Amino acid sequence: MSTAPRPLRVVVVGSGIAGLYTAALAARRPDTAVTLVTKGALEESNTWHAQGGITAVTAQGRAAGDSVDAHVADTLRAGAGMNDDAAVRLLCAAAGEEIATLDAWGVPFDRTADGYALGLEGAHSAARILHIGGDRTGTGLALSLIRQVRDLADAGHLELRQHTAVRSLLRSGGRVRGAVLQAAGGGTTGAEEIRADVVMLATGGAGQLFEATTNPAGATGDGAALAWAAGAVLTDLEFIQFHPTLLDPAATGGRSFMVSEAVRGEGAVLVDAAGRRFMPGCHPDAELAPRDVVSRAIYSRQRELAQQGLEPAVYLDATAVAAARGQDFLARRFPMIDATVRALGFDWTREPLPVVPAAHYWMGGVRTDLQARTSVPGLFAVGEVACTGVHGANRLASNSLLEGLVFARRAVEALDQYRTAPSFDALPLAFDAGGTVCSQAEIRALMSASAGVARDGAGLELAAKQLAEWTVAEDGCAGLLTVARLVVAAAAARRNSVGAHYRTDFEQAPAGRQRLSFINEQEQP
Ligand code: SIN
Repeated sequence: MSTAPRPLRVVVVGSGIAGLYTAALAARRPDTAVTLVTKGALEESNTWHAQGGITAVTAQGRAAGDSVDAHVADTLRAGAGMNDDAAVRLLCAAAGEEIATLDAWGVPFDRTADGYALGLEGAHSAARILHIGGDRTGTGLALSLIRQVRDLADAGHLELRQHTAVRSLLRSGGRVRGAVLQAAGGGTTGAEEIRADVVMLATGGAGQLFEATTNPAGATGDGAALAWAAGAVLTDLEFIQFHPTLLDPAATGGRSFMVSEAVRGEGAVLVDAAGRRFMPGCHPDAELAPRDVVSRAIYSRQRELAQQGLEPAVYLDATAVAAARGQDFLARRFPMIDATVRALGFDWTREPLPVVPAAHYWMGGVRTDLQARTSVPGLFAVGEVACTGVHGANRLASNSLLEGLVFARRAVEALDQYRTAPSFDALPLAFDAGGTVCSQAEIRALMSASAGVARDGAGLELAAKQLAEWTVAEDGCAGLLTVARLVVAAAAARRNSVGAHYRTDFEQAPAGRQRLSFINEQEQP
């Protein structure tokens, strides 16, 4: 009598684009049992909030003169050449296939009579950003993928575990064998082990390391902390992207709301309180320079104004766009931004919006190969939590949703040979166990002061010392403290300025292309 082989058991952690797409693709495979675990509801993700769009050079773009080579070149230029070339080429070349899959799944991309409606964003040499509902791209994408996942769950192909956190990864024989789950916010009670052949981390980034961030409350670096504890290699941790235009929380009663780069793509400009533009003097592409350049220019302008005793405020001015293209243009092109800024008391057709740079995206993370495999067998990482090297030192706008799709597919394709894991060089690193209990607010204040848009050795050294002395009591904060220590260690180790990593004490030092990786010394055999 022959017995059927037991199914491959896969746990996917996270419900942004990378987690949803990975789960949806994996659950379509025969003999694969997929559990999707997420610490909130399926809708709670960074993807949900994505506005601008998703980059893809499609047949339509090629007919208009755009090319995969141009997308590759733009990605490398934005990434300051610190990217992994093979990962970039794969990302850009595979975009068309993923858009075709999403089309087949009914994702409602915006269209014109000529095909997809294509937007322009910073550092892109062509209009190649697909969007949904004007500026509701993330919500539109997430809703379509959630429908896929729910249908697969209803048909018995996938198990859904919402409001469930992963407390730790199970390991044995040098590989990951599953995870310890727990009701989110449930302290240490009711932990449950789930055995698996593969754990796919798709937990997103760590914007909550900083006071000003575009990320939702759940972006606390959980996946990086789990992978660190499992002994995986982490790379490029010093590269954190600051989005130039978060509506200034000081002017919104503390509410965080990002105004998409696509608004600058439609012609909005940055001005100071006197209405003077400053980006043309900073970069030939002015407001459409790479994101790190624009954020740094805002930061510098604010400092200059403060030194002159002037109001250190910077504004995003879309009034000329409204005047030139009609008073209803902004509401039609950006319905969600329009509704939100109006609800917050701004008529952006008539007045500029006060903005500040804010932590937006972590280029670094858990090091993977092109099939999303980490250095620990059985552990994969996809999306923002991963570091494929695709973004280099600064991510090109609207490449992140694409990354989630492209590497989710590679991860699922790699499931059959998951037993082998790549090896990456990394510096061993260990942290002393801290003593004084700290809060999430204290971590965020320290990181904002010492590891933000501009950093220096003295500030990083003090931060490292303070972080080493701290320990955590708050639920959900332990991972954030680990990740803060890692980011500060990486930022201190990179003694030059490149991409999003700007050291005021090493402004002119040659960049080189060496990438920094770290491994948890205490977890090595
Ligand atoms: C934006 O819409 O400005 C953000 C898009 C991105 O981060 O790629």
